[in-house]
Amino acid sequence: MSLRIGLLGATGLVGRTTLELLEQRDFPAAPTLLASERPRDATLAFRGQRLAVEPVSPEGFRGLDLALFASANGVSEAWAEIARAAGATVIDLSSAFRYHAEVPLVVPEINGALLDARPTLIANPNCSTIAIALALAPLHRAFGLERVAVATYQAVSGGGSEALAELEGGVRAGLEGPPPGRAGGLPAFAFNVVPHIDRFEDNGYTREEMKVVWETRKILAAPDLAVTATAVRVPVRVGHCAAVNARFGRAPSPADARELWSAFPGLRVVDDPARSRYPTPLEAAGGDAVLVGRARRDLSQERALEFFVASDNLRKGAALNAVQIAEHLVRSRVSAP
Ligand SMILES: NC(=O)c1ccc[n+]([C@@H]2O[C@H](COP(=O)([O-])OP(=O)(O)OC[C@H]3O[C@@H](n4cnc5c(N)ncnc54)[C@H](OP(=O)(O)O)[C@@H]3O)[C@@H](O)[C@H]2O)c1
Repeated sequence: MSLRIGLLGATGLVGRTTLELLEQRDFPAAPTLLASERPRDATLAFRGQRLAVEPVSPEGFRGLDLALFASANGVSEAWAEIARAAGATVIDLSSAFRYHAEVPLVVPEINGALLDARPTLIANPNCSTIAIALALAPLHRAFGLERVAVATYQAVSGGGSEALAELEGGVRAGLEGPPPGRAGGLPAFAFNVVPHIDRFEDNGYTREEMKVVWETRKILAAPDLAVTATAVRVPVRVGHCAAVNARFGRAPSPADARELWSAFPGLRVVDDPARSRYPTPLEAAGGDAVLVGRARRDLSQERALEFFVASDNLRKGAALNAVQIAEHLVRSRVSAP
């Protein structure tokens, strides 16, 4: 079977991670690499070769079966229909299409069955929400979720290459004096904790917080689930964390939760406080699993648990989830009658 795959946004943090994963996971095709029209003379390494990065154009999508979009919302909006018209199924990592009712929002371990309907546009969820939804999914199935309250601790790479460069520059400068602020009077990433990711909405929540609310409901197919979130940027390079408080119809014990998590694909329980073992961004970074631990009963209310998750925002939070979707589509293509 010949398969052609394209990667729009190949030069970004998520694009480069996607390319690494396609190689590591032996994806059965070398990708066409696309990025902005910014002049460049760039190639990226793939299986011992150098692949050229082309400026995005309608011709770039011609003949592709799959196209992974790892760029800004506006870029996805501009090119998704062109790619689909050229015959490609689009897996979009931006938030441009996540809230369209007809577009599946997929975490393969939870709702990969949605891919069996062969959609031609699939949305990859928000980086924090993927990890939170994975930890909630088996508990929801067994105990019935009623309410979720989340505080995230998100790495700066979640904001893309420029944000990461600002953190790294700010950390260096901050060792000698006050870390410089960012453009537009925004507070520094370095040596700071910033409760502001994406724009503020009229209800006082940020867009990033509303992504957790809307996407948790959509992924778990629980449209009326009560969810509230605070999303916070912390001076970490890679690895998003979240403190999750979840209340259920029936009370799970921490041991019940650990047992369900251990049996669920994509999760790894790291929960041995006596040995200082719990999820951290440094342990999650570079790995595939969402780490979950610090499970304990909520002291303040009945039928509720507290726990903590950490995951690599560039891998399971973005590129890995998208590549898993692509692998699922390829498997169903191969097995199609
Ligand atoms: N970072 C994360 O942890 C994360 C997690 C989940 C989802 N996402 C989403 O994934 C997407 C990519 O994020 P990122 O962190 O990889 O961003 P990034 O590092 O800033 O990379 C952006 C990519 O988009 C390309 N690009 C910019 N303008 C373009 C244009 N007009 N036409 C075509 N390509 C253009 C850039 O190419 P040039 O090199 O040519 O500028 C680059 O390849 C975003 O939608 C983001 O919200 C990110």
